[in-house]
Amino acid sequence: MKDYLIYFAQAYPNFRRSEIESLAGLNGIKLDLSHHDESTPFLVVQLENDEQARKIMERSILGRGIYELWGEGKTLEEVHANTKLRYGSEFDRYKQSTFKFDFVGYMGSREKKDKFEVIESFAYLGFEGAIRMKNPDEVFVVLEQYEQPDREKSTTPLHIWFGRQVQLSARTENILDKYDLKKRKYIGTTSFDAELSLISCNIAQVNTGKVVYDPFAGTGSFLVAAANYGGYVVGSDIDHRSLRGKNEKCNIRANMKQYNSTSQFLDVMTMDFTHNALRPDFQIDTIVCDPPYGVREGLKVCGVKDPAKAAHRENVVIDGEKAHLRRDFIHPKKPYELASLLDDLLSFAVQRLPVGGRLCFWMPTANDEFSTDFIPHHDSLDLLYNLDQEFNKWSRRLLVYSKRDQQSSHTSDEQAPAATVSKNVSNFRARYFKGFSPSSK
Ligand SMILES: C[S@@+](CC[C@H](N)C(=O)[O-])C[C@H]1O[C@@H](n2cnc3c(N)ncnc32)[C@H](O)[C@@H]1O
Repeated sequence: MKDYLIYFAQAYPNFRRSEIESLAGLNGIKLDLSHHDESTPFLVVQLENDEQARKIMERSILGRGIYELWGEGKTLEEVHANTKLRYGSEFDRYKQSTFKFDFVGYMGSREKKDKFEVIESFAYLGFEGAIRMKNPDEVFVVLEQYEQPDREKSTTPLHIWFGRQVQLSARTENILDKYDLKKRKYIGTTSFDAELSLISCNIAQVNTGKVVYDPFAGTGSFLVAAANYGGYVVGSDIDHRSLRGKNEKCNIRANMKQYNSTSQFLDVMTMDFTHNALRPDFQIDTIVCDPPYGVREGLKVCGVKDPAKAAHRENVVIDGEKAHLRRDFIHPKKPYELASLLDDLLSFAVQRLPVGGRLCFWMPTANDEFSTDFIPHHDSLDLLYNLDQEFNKWSRRLLVYSKRDQQSSHTSDEQAPAATVSKNVSNFRARYFKGFSPSSK
């Protein structure tokens, strides 16, 4: 095992560990991140080799890059001593390589003149290859942490690492610009943030050739993100307008075309999730979604509030055909409890996912009343992560489950009482519209 240094972006620090762990798991790599500290973007990890490092970093959204760690210390002198001690025998390997030096500064940086002096101080490496600013064989990087975020600005680094760049991440290669909602052909009021959609798909372990289903697809934010990772994507939504978009140039298919992902797009269909028409033997590997919470869109299912009153409608005949059997029949809708919908979602995942397959969905909660009892549970699903993105008075949580091996299923008394789940989820909409005042609890 060798030390590698991960440099993270300053975004969603509480999601970093789950993203990198999930990417490691997806590639069968054992990785201990228990020492991860959210307050710093630098993390030293142990890996077997560069190939493992590449695999955990190349599609990361929260990582910026990974480096083979040659030396570290509080001062440059310490870094040099440490580098000679740890990597002295490796210098020759890179003697003839073309190379360049780079600097990464967190909460500070060096002046140009200073950087040249630092580069000169590494002369003992003895590299004889040409310096190339474009496409060198190797990039050697000095990474510096200048201050803790709550301290005054300082020009002296607190800690310095020196390493060989192994892999820059998708983020560094501008994936967020590519998927920026502002540049997307088709978006709507429900479109989900591009960065978090991509992170969700990484944590969901979406992978090449796997089938990814979003049962509340709306404008297809998770579908484009999943297609980016090679998933075959399929979506459904009760609202045909959001699936259809405005026209051929402004719909989900147009988005797929924009991102060169048409080959990954299975289709979208208008369907009430609670009356799911996907064949029972249609294998779904991953489910990623943002269920309706009634804030921007209503939660409705097919059906009538009062079946007795609506019974006569079954006898309505148009052009000799029963109205409800015609292609142009529009189903009546009735309100539904969100808690029941989440129960349906968990049960569906248990029925359809393979063992180890992941269900990931976002759930909003009020900050002043959240308790882990509010998280829906199923005795055939392991809750892997509960990650929150906090706003002023409420949070949305990414809940990530993995289908348990049926042989090792827990007993049903571990299931959260349905009433606990129901109280939270049915309350959220009312409290949101009342500004989360204590009296609205
Ligand atoms: C929060 S939005 C999801 C938005 C989506 N992620 C996007 O990118 O636009 C929830 C979606 O669930 C849909 N929905 C509501 N009730 C549904 C049901 N019973 N079955 C399927 N979809 C439903 C709504 O029409 C809405 O598009």
